[in-house]
Order: sequence, then structure tokens, then C-alpha cells
Amino acid sequence: MSLNFHENHRLLYGAALATFVALTVVIAIVPARWVQEHTEPLSGSRALTEQERRGLAIYVAEGCLYCHTQQVRPLPVDKPFGRPSAPGDYARLRPQDVWRMTPALLGTERTGPDLSNVAARQPSDTWNYIHLYNPRAVVKGSVMQAYPWLFAIRETPGPGEVIVPVPPDYAPRGGKVVATQAAQDLVAYLLSLKQTPLPGGELPEQAAGAPSGAVTPGASVYAAHCASCHGSNGEGVPGVFPPMKGDPVVTAADPARHIHIVLFGLEHAAINGVNYAAEMPAHKDELSDGEIAAVVDHERTSWGNSAPTVTAADVARIRKQGGP
Ligand code: HEC
Ligand code: HEC
Repeated sequence: MSLNFHENHRLLYGAALATFVALTVVIAIVPARWVQEHTEPLSGSRALTEQERRGLAIYVAEGCLYCHTQQVRPLPVDKPFGRPSAPGDYARLRPQDVWRMTPALLGTERTGPDLSNVAARQPSDTWNYIHLYNPRAVVKGSVMQAYPWLFAIRETPGPGEVIVPVPPDYAPRGGKVVATQAAQDLVAYLLSLKQTPLPGGELPEQAAGAPSGAVTPGASVYAAHCASCHGSNGEGVPGVFPPMKGDPVVTAADPARHIHIVLFGLEHAAINGVNYAAEMPAHKDELSDGEIAAVVDHERTSWGNSAPTVTAADVARIRKQGGP
């Protein structure tokens, strides 16, 4: 038998195949196994529920990961998206079955914001439904495409159906928009995307970095925690999220109710005769007294509003008096 590659084609192909298989094992399979076996899920994290798992399948099928990453880099530009990702963040991800690989959620394309901690930024299911139905309805100038096929139009929605309060300019001419099961599953998955604090006690630094353009501390708290619903220009979204510009509570001489609502949230209140289906989330756990004072002052002095301002001590006093 000749050991000459030029004459023995079996030897040539055999050697190439053996090298290929060996390299695959050494540089792909062994390290992947090692990482899987040596990474524990973060304590305090939980597995996805059945519904969230179905939502993940839709996230993959709809190709959301072609524009969204789920890996926060330790870079200043990534600061608004949360703390840098750690291996434990992915430890619960497993192949769906023998034939299908672990969904590649990390992504590489950053056309849209990183979603690792999106539930902390966009905690409202209503906001997420409207955004998926038509991103432009809540984010002017968004280049994200709409996903109308995740919704149905009903003349008279049934009792159990999830009605989406799409702003009039974007709503269909007849009928109401309702979220299909797929949309509900997808939004359940999005609302599960919240970073677990690292064992070192380091809290997820959600939205800590001041987005560019924010000049005062109040403006940067507003941009990170309020603008997604109330709009960066304070105009809100008609019929869905109330405007802060000219709002009776925000322009009232007595700031107590303003502070109270930011601390403890609000639901089912009619504002200027409009009933809002979504609720205003409480911010008592995520914002300090100083940050709340800053954002309240920002609202009281922006967009033509001019109402008396407050101090951190005012916020501390109302915080102490307790919830709604
Ligand atoms: C063509 C690229 C593209 C695709 C595909 C895409 N998005 Fe987006 N997405 C964006 C952009 C750009 C933004 C920022 C503007 C905005 O909020 O609409 C965004 C914003 C978001 C936000 C808000 C993030 C934040 O920090 O406020 C969520 C949630 C989201 N997308 C979910 C999804 C889901 C779920 C899918 C798949 C069904 C998807 N996106 C598909 C481009 C995309
Ligand atoms: C997830 C969307 C969302 C976010 C984020 C949000 N709000 Fe609201 N906010 C609402 C909704 C919806 C209402 C109306 C609730 C109602 O009518 O029951 C509201 C109501 C208010 C009101 C009461 C207005 C009135 O006249 O009663 C104030 C003040 C307010 N928000 C300030 C803020 C501030 C400050 C922030 C950021 C720290 C913020 N909101 C973040 C959705 C949001």
C-alpha cells in the first residue's frame, strides 16, 4: 500500500476526514460540554414556564434575533441595557430536543436594543402588544417591522380575549385588535427577560447610564424609566399612556400626589376624562428618593410645565407614609 497522497486517494480523504472530525471534537464539542457542565444557573433565577417556552419558540421562529442580541458587553455603550452578561445567565438554556440545537439567542446584530433585561425597561404588557402590532405607534421613527399576523381583528371581541388599545392613528378602521395566543406567549417570554443579580451582590445596573442627550439627572431618569410610555417629549401615546405635558397632577401646586404616583403606581384612574387600560408601574424599589425627586422636578419644569419643585426629603416623607 502506498503512503503517497498523490496515489492513494483513500488515504488522502481518510486523513482529511480524520482531521476534520478531530478538530470538531477538540474545538467545538469538548469546550461546549465543558461550559455546560461547569456553569450553574444563577441563584435566584428560574426556569421558563411552559408559556414562556412557547414564546421563546415564536421569538426564534419570527427571527427577532436577527436584530436583537441577548448579550450585554462590558462597554459603556451597553450600559443602558443592564449589567454585563455572565455565563450563568445562559445556564438554563438547553437544546429543545435531540434534533434541535439550543436556540442561538446571543445574536450578533444590534439593529435594535439588547433584550437581556428588557422586562425591566418595558414592564408593561400593553406597551409590548402595541409595539409588536406596530412599533411606530409607541416609538416614532422606529425601524422595527410590525408583526400584525400575531394579532386578530374582531368586530366584537369575546369575553376572555386580550384587547390591545392601539392608538387611533394606527388602529384598523373597523373592529378591535386582539392578541392571539402566539402574541400572548411571546410577550410572556419578553416579560421574563430580566437579569438576575450576580452572586457578588452586584445589582443589575439597569438603565444606569445616561442615554445620550440627557443633560440633567432628572432628564436621564426620565429617559430611562418613563419615556418609553410617556414619550421623550412628554406627549404620551394618545389613549394609551397619558401625556405629562400639562397633566393636572404634574402641574398641581401640591406635589404630594405626583410623588405618590411615581412611588406607588396607579391604575384605573381616569385622567382628563380618559380611561387608560395600562397601568402606571410603581418605582419605589428601583429609584432612590433623590432620583424620584429629580424626575418629578424634570416633569414639573419641562415641556412648558412650570410647577413648584420638590426635594428628596419630600419623597422620603411620602415613601414613609406608605402605599396606595
Ligand atoms: C429589523 C430589525 C428588527 C427586528 C427583526 C425586530 N426588532 Fe425589535 N427593535 C428593533 C429596533 C430598531 C428597536 C428600537 C426602536 C423601537 O423601540 O421600536 C426595537 C425595539 C424592540 C423592543 C423594545 C426594546 C427597548 O429597549 O425598549 C422590544 C421589546 C423588541 N424590539 C422586541 C422584538 C421582538 C419580540 C421581535 C420579533 C418578533 C423583534 N423585536 C424584531 C429592530 C428589530
Ligand atoms: C409602562 C408604562 C409607564 C411607565 C414606564 C411610566 N408610566 Fe406613568 N403612567 C402610565 C399610565 C398607563 C398612567 C395612567 C394610569 C391610570 O390612569 O390609571 C400613568 C400615570 C402617570 C402619572 C399620573 C398622571 C395623572 O394625572 O394622574 C404620573 C405623574 C406619571 N405616570 C409619571 C411617571 C413617571 C415620573 C415615570 C417614570 C419614573 C412613569 N410615569 C413611568 C404608564 C407608565
